[in-house]
Amino acid sequence: MNPSENTVSQTLAALGIAQPDEISSLFAEVRARFDAEIIRAHDEPNWNITKVVWLGRKSGVLAQITDNWLKPATPELKRAVGASLNELRAHVESKIEECRVAIESGSEESALTRERVDLSLPGVVRPIGSHHLIRQVFQDVEDIFVSIGFSVVEGPEIETPYYNFEALNIPEFHPVRDDMDTFYIDLAKGAPTPLLLRTHTSPMQIRTMEKQKPPVRVIVPGKVYRRDNPDATHSFAFHQVEGLAVDTDITFCDFTGTIEYFVKQFFGSGVKTRFRPSYFPFTEPSVEFDVSCIFCGGSGMAASGGICGKCKGAGWIELFGAGMVDPAVYGFVNYDAKKVNGFAFGMGMDRLAMLKYGIDDIQVFFQNDVRFLRQFP
Ligand code: DAH
Repeated sequence: MNPSENTVSQTLAALGIAQPDEISSLFAEVRARFDAEIIRAHDEPNWNITKVVWLGRKSGVLAQITDNWLKPATPELKRAVGASLNELRAHVESKIEECRVAIESGSEESALTRERVDLSLPGVVRPIGSHHLIRQVFQDVEDIFVSIGFSVVEGPEIETPYYNFEALNIPEFHPVRDDMDTFYIDLAKGAPTPLLLRTHTSPMQIRTMEKQKPPVRVIVPGKVYRRDNPDATHSFAFHQVEGLAVDTDITFCDFTGTIEYFVKQFFGSGVKTRFRPSYFPFTEPSVEFDVSCIFCGGSGMAASGGICGKCKGAGWIELFGAGMVDPAVYGFVNYDAKKVNGFAFGMGMDRLAMLKYGIDDIQVFFQNDVRFLRQFP
């Protein structure tokens, strides 16, 4: 260490200084040392160090001069020391501030250089996504029905038991509720009504009829939920499209014609269709709608010679439930059951997609593995 650096840690007496005229050369030395240091402080970390070394409140050079030179100085020296110290302090402070301004404007300049956009560089190619297969199937189904006069409506996924069950002619303790293991929402005690995740899109039949007078022709795409354990054909969330047509002159023929038209548009005109009697509380009569097996052409035989694995040799595949609206349902929405009639259907989009595209596990729709999604751009 330069021996002069130590001067500030000693008293003037210890340095052997007794005359006021010796003071200015002593301060000149310190000032020269500062000037040499501040030149080297050309970035923020170094600037910080220099500032602390010189202006630090406890052990900065100026604090030491105050403690070791000024305070114990003899009365003869005190004036000279005080004056030189003030001068030095003014010099140090102004240089340190000057230096800060220089560093800041310098770093701004380099930030500008860094951020300058080079327009000659090629752009980043962002891969373009596509609609999920289920969304595509929704769209296909909607297009077909819209083309024959249906409109699309959507409804809440959180429903009351009234809309999900009662108004659809499914009173409490009706065995059909067993088929629809339901997610109920945890509500605080005293909530006005229980709430559940809709188990089907059928509640929108009620909501639509409550809102509008016949004629009604709507389809309702949406998500539905059931407490099913996941396997290749079950998922706790899946997708349906509900259909409802109510007017004063709708016949069973309109019903079968509409559904057959849809199926042929969706699967191709080669498929055959059939109805089987079924049961739903909100339709009477109710049917299960089948289509000739898309995989074996309805023969029940696989191309390899054995039995078709998809229809298990039956030649038919069950597609969805449907029926003529049960008059009891009209009672819940103040329609005159004597004057109106109509049909309804509810189909699973996941099932339609699996059949149309030969997918044998419903879970792939929810895993969103891009290797699957990319097959349906
Ligand atoms: N809501 C029924 C279900 O999810 C499906 C259904 C059947 C809907 C017959 C209908 C219908 O509108 O008429 O199991």
